[in-house]
Amino acid sequence: EDGELSGHFERTIDRDQRIEPRDWMPDAYRATMIRQIAQHAHSEIIGMQPEGAWITRAPSLRRKAILLAKVQDEAGHGLYLYAAAETLGADRTDLTERLISGAQKYSSIFNYPTLTYADVGVIGWLVDGAAICNQVPLCRSSYGPYARAMIRICKEESFHQRQGYELLMTMMRGTGAQREMVQDAVNRWWWPSLMMFGPPDAESRHTARSMAWKIKRHTNDELRQRFVDMTVPQAEALGVTLPDPELRWNPERGHYDFGEVDWAEFRRVVGGDGPCNAERIAVRRAAHEDGAWVREAAAAHAAKRARRSRH
Ligand code: 3HC
Repeated sequence: EDGELSGHFERTIDRDQRIEPRDWMPDAYRATMIRQIAQHAHSEIIGMQPEGAWITRAPSLRRKAILLAKVQDEAGHGLYLYAAAETLGADRTDLTERLISGAQKYSSIFNYPTLTYADVGVIGWLVDGAAICNQVPLCRSSYGPYARAMIRICKEESFHQRQGYELLMTMMRGTGAQREMVQDAVNRWWWPSLMMFGPPDAESRHTARSMAWKIKRHTNDELRQRFVDMTVPQAEALGVTLPDPELRWNPERGHYDFGEVDWAEFRRVVGGDGPCNAERIAVRRAAHEDGAWVREAAAAHAAKRARRSRH
């Protein structure tokens, strides 16, 4: 019986077909999908904080409206992804508690401060640009609900990336002070953006298995390289320099060579010791606790309606 089921699972994966919620799947597949989807959702929700800090201080109504729409999109991405995790049997409240307790992770990138308004543009350009590099292949991930959520999310991410780049282009056509603000933000966000793709393949404990199950379609280093190759020409068009003296086109490889990421910093930030980790979790905990009455009221209202509909 199990042999037949696992045979069907393997054939489905081999044929690039989708595993759906009711299909049999190895426990380890279910566990790693819940792990990745939940941490992706946590990243979207925590990611609302760095940019959200600038909604009340945006320099114009247009910029405020754009930023409001983007931060609201991130909340929606989180909800799609928590819903995808629930199709695997995960419980959303449990996942939130694991985020708050530190038992589950969120992307390291959101543990850096947004010091000036130029950060809003650089996050759109680099962070959402990196997210797009990472998320487009996930549209072909083997778990159906995750892949379908990615298709919708990628459409909205392209707006996020374009609005960031357009914001920076506007500032680069502004005063010298504005151009310096953009360059300063690029200097602070470039290397942390490369860390979003995860540790080097040689140190990645999940990549081999995730590639075999077609959860991942490319390795961490492949996507990191794709992001660098895509971004260097954009930086040139923008007129900013990327803070990596070893960055140069390598005609033999057909890719840009770039310097070594500071993996000690990566491990520190992922381990909870980044500039903003404590603040991000404290804000998320407060929102969860302050919002408890809303959840209780909504649940009580739903229960009352359910009782009424039974009579
Ligand atoms: N920040 C925090 N943790 C990270 C990390 C990062 N940048 N990169 C890797 N890790 C963690 C992994 O979660 C894993 O820990 P775990 O076993 O506790 O989950 C460990 O480091 C080893 O890394 P692996 O490469 O072996 O793990 P994965 O195969 O899961 O690869 C990943 C990591 C590339 C992030 C992959 O999980 C993935 O593609 N996730 C989906 C995309 C995602 O989460 N993106 C977050 C970016 S932010 C975002 O999308 C919001 C957008 O709106 C900007």
